[in-house]
Amino acid sequence: MDRLNGTMMKDRQGLEITTSSHETVALLDHFVGQVLSYGQESDCLCKKSDMIGDEEVLLHALIAICCLGAENKNPKYDACSKSSYHIQKAKAYQHKATKRERMYVSVCEELKRSNKEEAARIYEEIVDLFPRDILAAKLAQEQYFNMGESENLRRVGKKCFQSNQDVHFSYGMYAFGLAETNSLEEAERLALQGTDMAPFKKDPWCHHAVAHCMELTGRLDEGIRFMESMAPTWNECGSFMYSHNWWHTSLFYLDRDASDIVLDIYDKHIWLKAKESAQEQIGATALLWRLDLRKIPVASHWDDVSDYIVPHIKEHIQPFLDLHYIYALAKSGKDERVKEMLDSLNSSALYQKNQSEVTRYMAEAFVLYARGDWESSYKQLAPIYDRTKEIGGSQAQRDVFEQTYIDILLQTRRYDRVKGLLEDRVSRRPNTPYLYRNLHTVYSHLGMTEEAQHADTKSKELERFYRQTLPTITKEIRGCTCHQRQPEQLQ
Ligand SMILES: [Fe+2]
Repeated sequence: MDRLNGTMMKDRQGLEITTSSHETVALLDHFVGQVLSYGQESDCLCKKSDMIGDEEVLLHALIAICCLGAENKNPKYDACSKSSYHIQKAKAYQHKATKRERMYVSVCEELKRSNKEEAARIYEEIVDLFPRDILAAKLAQEQYFNMGESENLRRVGKKCFQSNQDVHFSYGMYAFGLAETNSLEEAERLALQGTDMAPFKKDPWCHHAVAHCMELTGRLDEGIRFMESMAPTWNECGSFMYSHNWWHTSLFYLDRDASDIVLDIYDKHIWLKAKESAQEQIGATALLWRLDLRKIPVASHWDDVSDYIVPHIKEHIQPFLDLHYIYALAKSGKDERVKEMLDSLNSSALYQKNQSEVTRYMAEAFVLYARGDWESSYKQLAPIYDRTKEIGGSQAQRDVFEQTYIDILLQTRRYDRVKGLLEDRVSRRPNTPYLYRNLHTVYSHLGMTEEAQHADTKSKELERFYRQTLPTITKEIRGCTCHQRQPEQLQ
């Protein structure tokens, strides 16, 4: 690399790096930009790892962090030994490094020991000491997100935002923390502000935070219009952000009863680009699961998705992934693999705190549910249902567990219990005909004639409105996305 005299330079955020190479600074800036924008080159450090000099402590530490954070293990790529190699490299020269760089090396060691709580704590300490380090804030949020700690997610987002209001990425990061802790108005305001600040509105994480706010309040048409108008900017995203933002878009159509558009998005944007990626596997599973809950036939899709999941069933990277994996396996009838995975989940404490226990209960419950054994599924899920937050993931992602529990209660005719859950859901999402159809069933069985009539009328009104306005919506959006269906084909 091109070296100058001296050993200290500054990155785009003004943070000191122990290097004398402009190339190192440029590579680091590019990497951070790619991570924050969910770009296609967020693996740029790993790809250039052979060219990185021994003394580049921060780069070696960041490569190790990337290896240790890989969400599914590629058998052709030994992430574990590669991370050990880079940790060793980083440690060899850390005596010459800055405090911040040494803290990144400590994070590597904690991640290597699977001590994610301590890794998150160190990241947050970096944010406290070096508030311009947006990357540390992003990585801290990622750890807290996976541990289901939404208050911490919000706290780090706030710290980052307070010191980086000139950087649009900090708006989406804080907004997501606010959304996950139900400060939806402020979250949406900041996410829209960040979107407007970003060049050409290209900040997919801000778009994502807006989608969460609109999803949690059931604003279906607003959600569709906003996400579809931003969709052309996602073409430069890596596979996770691209498919995840499309996944969010599809949820609005699903609640609008437009299942053919949902399947169209599934084929064109969700289950297409990187089938070997864990995030794409769970995105596909999560959408098929929701379609399943609406009794929309998707049986033919499960084999393909679960074939890609099979190599990863004993990795146990995150409880949230495991629960999606096992549901896909059960739905495709891969019973031997289901048994293998359940045995593996039961064999040891795989996750921090009580995540292992909750994961085991939920995994067994969802296998039983997938097989149509409603009563056993209820007995397995009911005792730990209130603890589902512990397994991580966002509110929108965990919502499939609430929907499944509601369906189990309906299938087992526990109408008294499900009534309150459905009414609460309707109060949060007042524009979803599916919920009123379910409420109609419940009220009818409970002899609540007037309420049943009201729910029936409401569902029919919404169905009619959505049917009538769908051609208009699809006509509006056809100019900016690739839905190629004709209005008459739509429901
Ligand atoms: Fe999301």
